[in-house]
Amino acid sequence: MVFVYRLMKAGKDALVSAKNVAVLTGAGISAESGVPTFRGEGGLWRNFRAEELATPEAFENNPKLVWEWYDWRRQLLKPLKPNKGHEVIARFEKRFPEFLLITQNVDGLHQKAGNKKMVELHGNIWKVRCLKEGKVTDNFETPLSKIPPSCECGAMLRPHIVWFGESLPYDAIQTAYRAANECDVMLVVGTSAVVQPAASLPIIAKEHGAYVIEINAEETPISDIVNESLIGKAGDILPEIERLLEM
Ligand code: OAD
Repeated sequence: MVFVYRLMKAGKDALVSAKNVAVLTGAGISAESGVPTFRGEGGLWRNFRAEELATPEAFENNPKLVWEWYDWRRQLLKPLKPNKGHEVIARFEKRFPEFLLITQNVDGLHQKAGNKKMVELHGNIWKVRCLKEGKVTDNFETPLSKIPPSCECGAMLRPHIVWFGESLPYDAIQTAYRAANECDVMLVVGTSAVVQPAASLPIIAKEHGAYVIEINAEETPISDIVNESLIGKAGDILPEIERLLEM
């Protein structure tokens, strides 16, 4: 592993010849759009950490508090737009014959940028689920007129988000594992790589022979494992990589 700012020749060659590319993203890709990350600076809300709020137990004990957090996040997210990093990832979907975007983000900004071949490992903040019927519906009301919100059937709604201790959607994680097994290159962008199973995907990709490039504002637990670790902002580095591929 080498820490560099610019993509190395080996990384460029791997991307130029790649037929199958997977991209794994975390909160850092959305930071330059104004979305607060979970860890690091600005990661706290009313002094709570995500791990204290994004759990079934927290919701059971205090659904109002958990919904207030999500209502706050939804209000923050509503006016935000995809940034240069999201835009490059959307263009990469068209550049490579096989492509999958695997995101841990729930903000919907990748879809806004135009990505379609993607899986959302942790759900989507603009979807709600009925606690009684399990039905999932879109919900864009911001701010919410009633907290906690309720379904037409009268039961309480919960955010359609995968919380700590809950299983990931089966199809999404299986699709992600397959991409990790099969990709020629994996880009890992803006994730602290501490939350499983997403954090294991770059390791699986590397073990299966992929060239793994990390792009992150700081070193992470996988920086020593990947082929290249590019330290800096995704919104600077991804356009730089795209430019290099044109040269
Ligand atoms: P984190 O907040 O843990 O990590 C974000 C990473 O992005 C950090 O390593 C930052 O250094 C980096 N970063 C910040 N700004 C950046 C920028 N402009 N360019 C590149 N990197 C930048 O977010 P995740 O890894 O996504 O789960 O967190 C994983 C999961 O934990 C989330 O999906 C969420 C959270 O609790 C749930 O809510 C279930």
